[in-house]
Amino acid sequence: MLKVILALESTCDETAAAVIGEDGSILGSCVAGQEELHQAFEGVVPEIAARAHLESILPVIDRTLRKAGIEVQQIAAIAVATQPGLPGSLLVGLCAAKGLCIAWNKPLVAVNHIHAHVYACGLGRPDSIFPCIGFVVSGGHTHLYRCEAFDHWDLLGGTIDDAAGEAFDKVAVMLGFPFPGGPRLAKLAESGNERAFSLPRPLLDDPSRLEFSFSGLKTAVRYQLVGKGKQDFSTLHLDEQRRADMSASFQRAVIDCLVGKAIAAMKQTRLNRICIGGGVAANQRFRELLNQSVAKLGGEAIFASPELCTDNAVMGAMAWEKVRVHEFDSLELDVTPGLVRTVRTRA
Ligand code: KG4
Ligand code: ZN
Repeated sequence: MLKVILALESTCDETAAAVIGEDGSILGSCVAGQEELHQAFEGVVPEIAARAHLESILPVIDRTLRKAGIEVQQIAAIAVATQPGLPGSLLVGLCAAKGLCIAWNKPLVAVNHIHAHVYACGLGRPDSIFPCIGFVVSGGHTHLYRCEAFDHWDLLGGTIDDAAGEAFDKVAVMLGFPFPGGPRLAKLAESGNERAFSLPRPLLDDPSRLEFSFSGLKTAVRYQLVGKGKQDFSTLHLDEQRRADMSASFQRAVIDCLVGKAIAAMKQTRLNRICIGGGVAANQRFRELLNQSVAKLGGEAIFASPELCTDNAVMGAMAWEKVRVHEFDSLELDVTPGLVRTVRTRA
């Protein structure tokens, strides 16, 4: 009888569940998004997100279990992402997981969402991805880690203001795309000229700082579109080619920063493998340019498969690492919404 884990994910605005076998097989996976609920606000509203998770979580779990066609006896543990994320959203997932643990008498395993984004890079590969640089580029995070093992992470640096995905989404709003506009902006960028607009690459000239800053880049886009000091986009008329050109120029500026710091992290740590996950890692141009630069360095870049870049519960497969050694969490566990800099669960 194949043992499986049921993994839950509700850190931000996706409610997801997955059933993953001990052999790595994905027996079922469902993701319920909430995009239309947040569109009017041009960003995720935490209270709305938590309420939507509450409505979706049981139907999503139910659908996933039906898809997987498993018996409750097969479940070795219930895994749930407990950090980092929006407090209300995290609580819904954790409470659902605890409820199932009590009802079915199963152990609980907490998953770190950021680590899981990196772990997703190794799914379906025969060899371990560790040690590596872990690079999470999402709507909430742009962070570089030194990862010695699945339970040994040191934060090397991250964004000091916006995350890359957040900057994509905010510039997309300026360009008239509905939220979340990152993927739509990326699509239009394919027909634009990356050099049409001259935009800054913040912090790129100092390789000793493994940090990112996208706030000033966003402002630079605004100034080039509506003029310095002006806020009003209502009178802005951009023809489709200029919209594509700005999309391409902005995207290239973000990618240059991401690639520059990724390479700097590899040089600084002398690690020659980098694993990249998170929503922005689905960006084709980013994948292409980082692959080129890492190859020049003689290193290896491993991206999560595009469908596992954005939030999902399959990456909760990481919990198997703990289940195998019977390392479970207490039902008294609480959520940890903030980012933890260093994690070493074993010496
Ligand atoms: O990892 P994710 O699903 O959620 C977080 O944990 O934040 O990432 C979502 C982010 C959004 O900001 C979205 O616009 C961005 O990833 N994103 C992209 C692309 N696909 C998703 N940004 C640029 N290019 C893409 N192809
Ligand atoms: Zn994420």
